Amino acid sequence: MQKTDVIVLGAGAAGMFAAIEAGRRGRKVLVIDHAKAAGEKIRISGGGRCNFTNIHTAADRFLGRNPRFALSALRRYTAQDFIARVDAAGIAWHEKALGQLFCDGLATQIVAMLLRDMAEAGVTLWLDTSLGALRRVAGGFEVETGRGLVRAEAVIVATGGKSIPKMGATGYGYKVAESFDIPVTETRPALVPLTFAEQELDWMKPLAGVSLAGRVSLGRVGFDEAVLFTHRGLSGPAILQISSYWREGEAITLDLVPGRDVAGFLLAEKQAAGRAALRTALGKLLPEKLARLLEQRAGVDGPLAEMSRQKIDSIAAGIGAWQLRPVGSEGYRTAEVTLGGVDTDALDGRTMQARAVPGLYFVGEVVDVTGWLGGYNFQWAWSSGWAAGQVA
Ligand code: FDA
Repeated sequence: MQKTDVIVLGAGAAGMFAAIEAGRRGRKVLVIDHAKAAGEKIRISGGGRCNFTNIHTAADRFLGRNPRFALSALRRYTAQDFIARVDAAGIAWHEKALGQLFCDGLATQIVAMLLRDMAEAGVTLWLDTSLGALRRVAGGFEVETGRGLVRAEAVIVATGGKSIPKMGATGYGYKVAESFDIPVTETRPALVPLTFAEQELDWMKPLAGVSLAGRVSLGRVGFDEAVLFTHRGLSGPAILQISSYWREGEAITLDLVPGRDVAGFLLAEKQAAGRAALRTALGKLLPEKLARLLEQRAGVDGPLAEMSRQKIDSIAAGIGAWQLRPVGSEGYRTAEVTLGGVDTDALDGRTMQARAVPGLYFVGEVVDVTGWLGGYNFQWAWSSGWAAGQVA
């Protein structure tokens, strides 16, 4: 039987950050993970360059039953705090777009920084070690591991969500919560490509690889980012963003040329080049393959000059508000995150401690806090890990 002060379950972004903070306070910390390497999702994130935070971090960039829950931790450990850490480690970075900060070099620099900080804080790391049941015992907790039983005063659960099971994601953290009667909200894949029925795929498939700067919306929520046609349906940042809001049966609205008066444009083209085909005019606004498809779908085969005002208006309306009804998503296999998780009502927003189980903490993606695409999820991992690390 081994004993320590704090056990951190999961060596991902949130777990490593919590461990560093607890270790710096002089706590004896043990981090356990079944993966062969720590921070695997950091390594592959942001196309290998890790979008490690977003300078526009605010409550409205997060989903969950209570999006304001995240505020306390996000305000106490901010994007600027993490940037200062990255700067101190000599890691060069740049803002790509929309406040998203990426490493200039490889994401492994962030993993290396965290591993170095853990070592300096005296944290012990057990990789390739399975986890079994976690129980309450006198004076703390006891967890079954592949290296035997371990006891500690405090346990921080940082085992993440269910996305990308191939990389070691499991529902372990949710099971731990349930075993302590801590509620878990419904979980579902988020930041994930959306899939379509065969009849839609018939016309979508030839467009695979086509991307455009569109606007995708659902009710009052909308995102102006890239949309990408794939063999399975739609992907790209705007689609991943809306996937977090979409539910089965709902239609999404795609504006192919946001901010553009398409009817006005087509009328002007009709005047200036009446003998041109609709696809030629649309090709000035959209990728050629898409322009051809829209012409086909509109059933137009004559030149612009033969098109009535009514026809132009209806084509423009379709381009500005194309209603598409996904049938599902690609699921956890490709989802970047898991929506839902440990119910925030059961946690103290300042410390991440379970209200009903003193000494038990939940941080990072396992909690029902899900950020938009763009560095928000890592910022939540750093902030929530930091918060628990101050007290555990
Ligand atoms: P995380 O999943 O990182 O860590 C959990 C750890 O627990 C893992 O090491 C796992 O092996 C371990 N574990 C799980 N079950 C276990 C068990 N049963 N026994 C033992 N160990 C167990 N976000 C962002 O802000 N910017 C970005 O650029 C990206 N990019 C990105 C790309 C891709 C492809 C994905 C899949 C995700 C992203 N994300 C992202 C999301 C981001 O990776 C995610 O939100 C954080 O990694 C969550 O950090 P956690 O530490 O909570 O979980």
